[in-house]
Amino acid sequence: MRLFGKITLVTGAAGGIGRAAALCFAKEGAIVIASDINTAGCSETLELLEKAGGSGILVTADVTHEDEIRSLYRHIEERYGKLDIVVNIAGGDCEPAADVEDIDYLKMSANLDLNLKSCILSCREAARMMKPQGFGRIVNMSSLVYRGSPNQFSYSAAKGGIYAFTRSLAMSLGRYGITVNALAPALVEVPAFVAALGAERWEMLRSDCAQRYPLGRVASADDVARCALFLASDDAAFITGQIIEISGGARL
Ligand SMILES: NC(=O)c1ccc[n+]([C@@H]2O[C@H](COP(=O)([O-])OP(=O)(O)OC[C@H]3O[C@@H](n4cnc5c(N)ncnc54)[C@H](O)[C@@H]3O)[C@@H](O)[C@H]2O)c1
Repeated sequence: MRLFGKITLVTGAAGGIGRAAALCFAKEGAIVIASDINTAGCSETLELLEKAGGSGILVTADVTHEDEIRSLYRHIEERYGKLDIVVNIAGGDCEPAADVEDIDYLKMSANLDLNLKSCILSCREAARMMKPQGFGRIVNMSSLVYRGSPNQFSYSAAKGGIYAFTRSLAMSLGRYGITVNALAPALVEVPAFVAALGAERWEMLRSDCAQRYPLGRVASADDVARCALFLASDDAAFITGQIIEISGGARL
């Protein structure tokens, strides 16, 4: 087991990628704090995790609220007294497909709050716990749109911001034995995406992307989870400040 006994926070643990990560980490022996704004979905994740022989707890938190992020970390500190790994996955696009003239202040702010500010604040709390320990692994969720994406202005700006922040943090925390990296998936098949688009539109998007990606398919949530596991494991002990594109070769 690669992560035996490692105390691991996974945010967005009710979602497609977050659930896959929580299960993947638990199977490697990590004790998982599964967190999400969606308590029911997160509790399903915990059930699956326990059925698979893993262990963990559920802590509901809205990552767009600083006080909820603080109390999430306080809970972890009081219960476990340490934190080894954080995987910041909670996020999503609050302003998909807008023309530049139509950028909406509230939707733009929602994208920055949910994707970028939440990541910065979670990492701040993680660093407060990890620095005195002299150890930590932080994995942040960016997206391939960090390179830019037409009509995803505020989302791509937020995900690009995560990459810049990840690099800055890696520079500051390396001397404390903490690595900080980011994931940049292209299209990943997750239930929320399929439900939002409807089966027919999803299939058109999936097959269009699959034709364009050199590996001939879109990503599964497990593809992303396994990359997060690698970055959190000792195999990646000398890797920091990197963004890993989980893209099947898209946009080479
Ligand atoms: N699916 C993709 O194609 C894809 C590609 C690149 C990056 N991503 C990123 O991966 C991450 C996970 O997305 P997913 O595809 O699993 O989608 P998802 O919708 O299944 O998961 C997102 C999770 O975040 C949770 N969440 C939303 N708002 C929250 C809040 N305020 N506080 C706490 N939790 C909140 C949701 O409840 C949900 O469980 C996101 O950051 C997304 O931007 C997804």
